[in-house]
Amino acid sequence: MTRLSSLWIIAGTLYILETKKQLLDSLKKVCLCRSIKAGTIMAAIEEGSLTFEALRRKLGAGTGNCKAKRCRPKIEERIKGYKDSKKAVVEPEVPSGQP
Ligand code: FES
Repeated sequence: MTRLSSLWIIAGTLYILETKKQLLDSLKKVCLCRSIKAGTIMAAIEEGSLTFEALRRKLGAGTGNCKAKRCRPKIEERIKGYKDSKKAVVEPEVPSGQP
């Protein structure tokens, strides 16, 4: 069975989303001080910004008044989740019981 993704362009950013839940999640503000949405952060992560510092430089995330106290844990959790999902895809299955 093939599942088709939905393409959304929100505020000039293209999102490829599988479900309404993903859409709603992408619109949540992760960095409240800088009004940066989860979708913007995930797009930057997918483009290769795989550390908090890289996202800080690219998007300005974590540069607000709270100095990333509120958003850094949430952003790092998203980076870890992305890396874990990629690792799960890349890791080959161990062959079992081959003669
Ligand atoms: S919430 Fe991101 S810098 Fe304050």
